[in-house]
Formats: sequence, structure tokens, C-alpha cells
Amino acid sequence: MTKKATLEIDGKKYDLPIVEGTEKEIAVDISSLRSDTGGVVTLDRGYKNTGSCESSITFLDGEKGILRYRGYSIEELAEKANFLEVCYLLIFGELPTKTQLDKFHKDIKAQSHVDEDVKRILDGFPKSAHPMGVLSSLTAALVAFNPSSVNVESEEDMYKAIVKILGKFPVLTAWTYRKRMGLPLDYGGDSLGYVENFIKMMFKSPSGDYTSNPTVVDALDKLLILHADHEQNCSTSTVRMVGSSHAGLFISISSGIAALWGPLHGGANQAVIEMLEAIKADGGDTKKFMAKAKDKNDPFRLMGFGHRVYKNFDPRAKIIKKAADSVLENMGIEDDVLDIAKALEKEALEDSYFVDRKLYPNVDFYSGIIYRALGIPVEMFTPMFALGRLPGWVAQWREMRLRKEPIGRPRQIYVGETKRDYIPLEDR
Ligand code: SDX
Repeated sequence: MTKKATLEIDGKKYDLPIVEGTEKEIAVDISSLRSDTGGVVTLDRGYKNTGSCESSITFLDGEKGILRYRGYSIEELAEKANFLEVCYLLIFGELPTKTQLDKFHKDIKAQSHVDEDVKRILDGFPKSAHPMGVLSSLTAALVAFNPSSVNVESEEDMYKAIVKILGKFPVLTAWTYRKRMGLPLDYGGDSLGYVENFIKMMFKSPSGDYTSNPTVVDALDKLLILHADHEQNCSTSTVRMVGSSHAGLFISISSGIAALWGPLHGGANQAVIEMLEAIKADGGDTKKFMAKAKDKNDPFRLMGFGHRVYKNFDPRAKIIKKAADSVLENMGIEDDVLDIAKALEKEALEDSYFVDRKLYPNVDFYSGIIYRALGIPVEMFTPMFALGRLPGWVAQWREMRLRKEPIGRPRQIYVGETKRDYIPLEDR
């Protein structure tokens, strides 16, 4: 027997079905609300209370600080899995066997070459261009060189588009970085792992030999796992929305990169380091910046704090904080910005403004400290987030298409001028 919710409007009652998920989440299904009521819609600015879809990919509980990919806890995956395994898990729903994982990686490597003409597009950007703008543009440009990636009605065509973007995106990310640094654009090596290959493409010297640092590979692999998916966040909802019109996978990912760029979303990891550096330059007075964050007349917010969903610790932040300590120790790096971050966190967790609003460190608060220790410049922090989130965007886009979700088309409440007559120019 389907549970129901009853809505009463002007004395008339309407029954709406209740949908219950496998984790006992409850939703009122309002799919027929407008037709049942003759025009009534709901209003939910920023969709804080609105589910856009049913999904089997990621479960998170913001109150309890739980995050699971396809049922596996983020803590276990971060400790025991590698990023390519997690890509397979998110996209296809199960942890791969060794044979499946080897074939997946082989197919990705076979599709990792980027047309040389893409370098000419990259040449057109000034070195000062923000890498997120370059990456979004180059990802969109990939469509021109891979037209078969657009109309992917069959699962086979979809698979081909998926391994193409998973192969080419790390190359575009590395090339975007090297272009800024004035370094030659090249590839890594087919014998390397997915993350190790990316690091080599990023950092190998044009002339010297390259030896990878296992600490760096492990740390980045873990960071990418922690960023891989996060249910219907701003950029993933964008990817789904664009894909719902049956626009291709690559252009949908390009739009997700654009959404992730914003400082309220993925751009926060860059903003956190810039904030910590500003506090350091200002003499390290964290209390002064805490006061600014609480001052309603001051637009300053404590970057890396707060979350649309987590009203408890972001489980990813806990793992990254621990990893930051071990990476810095392992690499013998003293980063006083980490000490400022820890002082800020301690103060915020004892301050009623933050406690009352349930503002805790999020995934972006500590990640930049590790990226910096790995030698990644601050303007490349959000591209790192995009590299991590790529499998999540792909998985969500694939699920949306396989479930044949309808084209996204929210309604509105009009609050503009009511009907009025045209006034000729000479009479205005
Ligand atoms: C990501 O959605 C996802 O899943 C995103 C993400 C993912 O993996 O995809 O987790 C990645 O985007 C993490 C968030 C990164 N952004 C930042 O760190 C930027 C700083 N954070 C804030 O801008 C803010 O917390 C948001 C945007 C993240 C969340 O905003 P909400 O939930 O809409 O919170 P709100 O704006 O309703 O604020 C509630 C109250 C307000 O005060 P009051 O009006 O109640 O007095 O908390 C205050 C806000 O002013 N507040 C902050 C604050 N965040 C919220 N005050 C100071 N500093 C902050 N960071």
C-alpha cells in the first residue's frame, strides 16, 4: 500500500504519493501536483528541499556525516581502493574484477590521445587564463574531434564516449597546467597507473628522467577518490540538466566544469588557501577573520566551512585532514598555513555562531594544503577537483540517460509586471 501525503489548498484536499528510498529517505512525489491542482507548483530556492531524481550511485546523510559510493563507505574506499577502481564502481555499479579493471584501463589508455589540433586551440589562450575556463573550453572542443561521442543511444556507444573522456581529460588537465608554465605538452607512459600517469604528464621535466614519488601518487589517488561523487551537488545537477536535453557527454561535462568553478562550490579549495595566506600575511590573527566571517555587513565568509547538506563534519574533511598531516610529515614539509587552518577549525568549533549554524570544515578546507605539498599551484586546485569529480559526473549522466529521465524544465512563480499596453517611443 503506497503511503500518501495530503495537501489542502483552499479547503480542497489532494493526495500525493510518498516515495521511500533504500536508506528510508522519504519524498513526497509531486510529479502530478500541477495537473491535479490546476496549476499549483512548489517553490524551493536553490532546491534545498527538492529531490531531482532517484539515484543508485551515492548516498549521503548530512546529519550523520555519512558518504557511500554504491553502498561502500568513503572511509573504506579511501583506505583500500584506488581511484580507477572507484571510477568503475561509480559508473558501472560494482567493484571490478581484476580482468574488468585491466580491460577498463586498457580501453582508457587506447583513447587517451588528443588530436594535435587541440594544442592550437590551447595556444590561443593567454597564459593568465584561469585553468577552469580553459578546461571547460577544451572539453567542449573535444566534441569536434569526437563527433561519435554525441548521439550515444546504445550502451556500447556510451561506453566508448566514457573511456574517451576518462582518457583525454587528464591529458587536457596536464596540458592546461604545462601551457601556463611554458612547458612542452606531452603524454606520460602506457605502463603507468592512471593517477601516476597524470602526475608524470603534469610534472615530468622536459629533459630529465622522471621517477614517481609513491607518497605523491597515493595522496593524489586518495584525494581524487574523496572528490569522485557527491550526489546532486551544483555541478552534477548541471551535468544532468544539460544531458537531459540529449546533448552529448563531453559538452555536459564541460558545463559541469563551469559550475564547479564558482567559489561557493569547487572553487572554494583555491579560495581557502588564498584566505589562509591572507590571514598569514595579516599576521595570523585568526580571531580577526572569524569576526569578519560572522559580520553580516562583511561579505567575507570562512571559505572551506559550511555545506548545503552536511550539518555535521564532512567525512571527507576528516580523512583529508589526517592525510594532510601524514603527507607533510612524509615529505618533510613545514607549512604554517596548516597550523593556521587547524587554529581556525578549533576556534570555529568552539564558536556559537558556527556551532549554532552547524558550520563545519568541508572537503575544500584541507585539500589545498595537500595539493600545495604535492607541488600543484593554487590555480590548479579546482581542476584537481574536476579530475576527481569526472567519474561522478559520468556516472550520473549515464544513469540519467539509461533511466530515460525527462528533459529538465523547472517552473517558476512570476512576480513581474502584470499585463500592460505598449507606449510609443515619442510618448515615453
Ligand atoms: C562544495 O553540494 C555539494 O555537495 C558540494 C560539494 C561537492 O562535493 O560537490 O560538497 C563541494 O561545494 C563544498 C562547499 C565549498 N564552499 C565553501 O566552502 C564556501 C563557503 N561556504 C559557504 O558559502 C556556504 O556554507 C555554502 C555555500 C557552502 C552553503 O551555503 P548554505 O547551506 O546555503 O548556507 P546558507 O548560505 O543558508 O548559510 C546559513 C547561515 C547563514 O547565516 P544566517 O543567515 O543564518 O545568519 O550560515 C552562514 C550564512 O551566512 N554561513 C557562513 C558560512 N556558510 C554559511 N558564515 C560564514 N562563513 C561561511 N562559510
